[in-house]
This record gives sequence, C-alpha cells and structure tokens, in this order.
Amino acid sequence: MPRLLVTNRAGFETAAEATAGLSVMENIRDNGFDELLALCGGCCSCATCHVHVDPDFIGALEPMSEDENDLLDSSDHRNEFSRLSCQVPMSDALDGLKVTIAAED
Ligand code: FES
Repeated sequence: MPRLLVTNRAGFETAAEATAGLSVMENIRDNGFDELLALCGGCCSCATCHVHVDPDFIGALEPMSEDENDLLDSSDHRNEFSRLSCQVPMSDALDGLKVTIAAED
C-alpha cells in the first residue's frame, strides 16, 4: 500500500495508508480528514478538494486537464503546486506523496 502524507490547515502532517486506484481526494477523505470538503464528489466542478503538492512530486503527476486548470483559476490560493486532488489517481509509484490541504476560498 502506498503511503500518503497529508498536512492539514493547522500544519500537522499525518501519514495515511492509501489505496492505489482511488483518487488522492478519496484517500484523504477515507482517512478521516474533514477539512477537504470535496463537495462535488470528484466530478471536477467544485475545487473544494484543492491541495498543494510537494515540489518533489509535482513532476511525477499526470498533467492536469483543461477543466482542472480552469477550475483552479477560481481559487485565490492557487500556486504552481496546486492540484485538485480528485483528479490525481493514487498509485504505488506515488508512494510517499506529500500534499497540503489548501486554504479555504
Ligand atoms: S471534489 Fe469537486 S473538484 Fe474535486
């Protein structure tokens, strides 16, 4: 099982056992983080699953779609490491992936 390291908005990092094949959003939610609202359930239409990906991993992710890019533009907290976690599939290759839950818009 790949590990996923999640930093919450208070700055505390928690290591979670992730399931490959589920999205990073689903893995965060399934590990009990209630800060990540993921209101649309992963349909790429709400941007409440916004995370900042550790710079060491950002290049290992699949490129974002135009829809994800457009939706991220609606966030005041977007930076070069922003992704919508529902659009990032977890995989064994991403073992140790570190993400920080973005500030709420
Ligand atoms: S859960 Fe809504 S965009 Fe990711």
